[in-house]
Amino acid sequence: MFDCTIVEFDKHHSDRKGNLTVVENGKTLPFDVKRAYYLYDIPGGMERGAHAHRKLYQLIIAASGSFDVVLNDGTISRRFTLNRPYQGLLVYPGMWRDLTNFSSGSVCCVLASDIYDESDYIRDYQDFLDFRKR
Ligand code: TYD
Repeated sequence: MFDCTIVEFDKHHSDRKGNLTVVENGKTLPFDVKRAYYLYDIPGGMERGAHAHRKLYQLIIAASGSFDVVLNDGTISRRFTLNRPYQGLLVYPGMWRDLTNFSSGSVCCVLASDIYDESDYIRDYQDFLDFRKR
């Protein structure tokens, strides 16, 4: 659980042009990015996630707006509020995650260590607890 932290990236600021943040393979992440996806137009009160991954690493970024990510390792859980586009939550494999409290217009961008593979998902909480015990 304690490996999962908020990583802060450089912000290239320009008074004239605004901000730019870069995430680059081989620099700040413990994995190479093979896939990016984003969640948007999330209705108020909706929750997403509710699964774990067996092998996948992810970086979760609030590209716009804010939301909470609750990580659970089967023993303890921690809530992270993401609300800065230059920060990302590093999520190691084997963590149950719930995404909640999406602000209106928020965009959740996820960088992942592998392509989509449904067999990497654990979508049942009891299966997750069994996986953690093994
Ligand atoms: P889902 O895992 O249910 O989203 P969340 O966990 O955020 O609530 O994914 C929604 C749908 O999108 C599901 O049919 C699988 C599909 N999907 C892909 O095809 N590729 C992907 O990379 C991802 C993340 C999801």
